[in-house]
Amino acid sequence: MRALICDSYDGLDALRVGEMPDPTPLPGTALVAVKAAAVNFQDLLVVAGQYQIRPELPFVPGNEFAGVVESANGLGGVEPGDRVVGFVGTGAMAERATAFPGAIIRLPDHIAFDVGAVIPVAYGTSYHALVDRADLRADETLLVLGAAGGVGLAAVQIGKALGAKVVAAVSSEEKAGVVRDAGADEVIRYDQMPLRDGIAAATSGAGVDVVYDPVGGSATELALRSTNWNGRLLVVGFTSGDIPQISLNLTLVKGNSVVGVFWGRFNIEEPARSAENNRIVMDWVADGTLRPLVQKTFPLDEAVQALRWVADRKVVGRVVLTP
Ligand SMILES: NC(=O)c1ccc[n+]([C@@H]2O[C@H](COP(=O)([O-])OP(=O)(O)OC[C@H]3O[C@@H](n4cnc5c(N)ncnc54)[C@H](OP(=O)(O)O)[C@@H]3O)[C@@H](O)[C@H]2O)c1
Repeated sequence: MRALICDSYDGLDALRVGEMPDPTPLPGTALVAVKAAAVNFQDLLVVAGQYQIRPELPFVPGNEFAGVVESANGLGGVEPGDRVVGFVGTGAMAERATAFPGAIIRLPDHIAFDVGAVIPVAYGTSYHALVDRADLRADETLLVLGAAGGVGLAAVQIGKALGAKVVAAVSSEEKAGVVRDAGADEVIRYDQMPLRDGIAAATSGAGVDVVYDPVGGSATELALRSTNWNGRLLVVGFTSGDIPQISLNLTLVKGNSVVGVFWGRFNIEEPARSAENNRIVMDWVADGTLRPLVQKTFPLDEAVQALRWVADRKVVGRVVLTP
């Protein structure tokens, strides 16, 4: 099969498109013909050897896909011909992929494959973060950093679906338009004004209750300082490249919490809750409550350009490969 191949942990320049053997599905593991695979920021970390899991070389990158089941191999709930989405960690950026039980979800007929491919990670992570980890309530204010990116835009939409006031922080006018379209109540251009001033203006000085932070760096402490009593800072990722060190007195004086989010491990530790979350997310996409945004699709041959698009901070929503 044709696939994007990572032969060494040297980042994007070392990737190539070529032939790999078809994956051999284990019993109870579906084999899927991939129609679309989303590009995640995490893929950049994985191919550079900077992610917490380093797959054995050579490997096929790609964390999530949409496609058609070729063989179910004893996996209950799906049959050959079924439309599905799957999340796999690696292996999605190829003509075929395998997915374990619990990591495969039926895709309703009216949702296109490219849209389906961007659902599992972004919406699964943001739903888990806001509902399970933060217990976000309808009378609260949510601040989303990196709000026009994959997980950020999902957090904006889910925050609105949960009834919260959503303040979205972004770095360009194009991204501001995207988060407004997604329902953000207030937008902060944190490339143009100090983040704390933006938060104060967006909340009339009231501060925020929950911070969704996929960015890290200096923004994290500034956001934490703007939380209210009982605030929660959701630690989602560090796209800025900087893992911040924070003085714990900030949590004492504000009575707030720093809350880690690790969706991949959540799926393993709490499979029943994960399946229920996935069902709710897919229902909300199917009925239009959530509207995943596919900015651009690239053929598999242009996979490196697609990953570079993400690395260059150009992505809004997600970009997708179509093998
Ligand atoms: N904890 C979990 O379970 C979990 C699950 C999924 C993803 N993640 C993590 O969440 C983070 C975001 O993932 P994603 O796929 O949504 O990424 P993405 O689509 O690339 O979005 C990331 C956002 O980060 C902001 N950003 C700030 N500095 C940046 C920089 N130097 N380079 C690139 N972007 C920068 C950008 O927004 P602005 O330009 O507006 O600032 C961008 O929109 C990643 O670290 C990923 O590993 C964590």
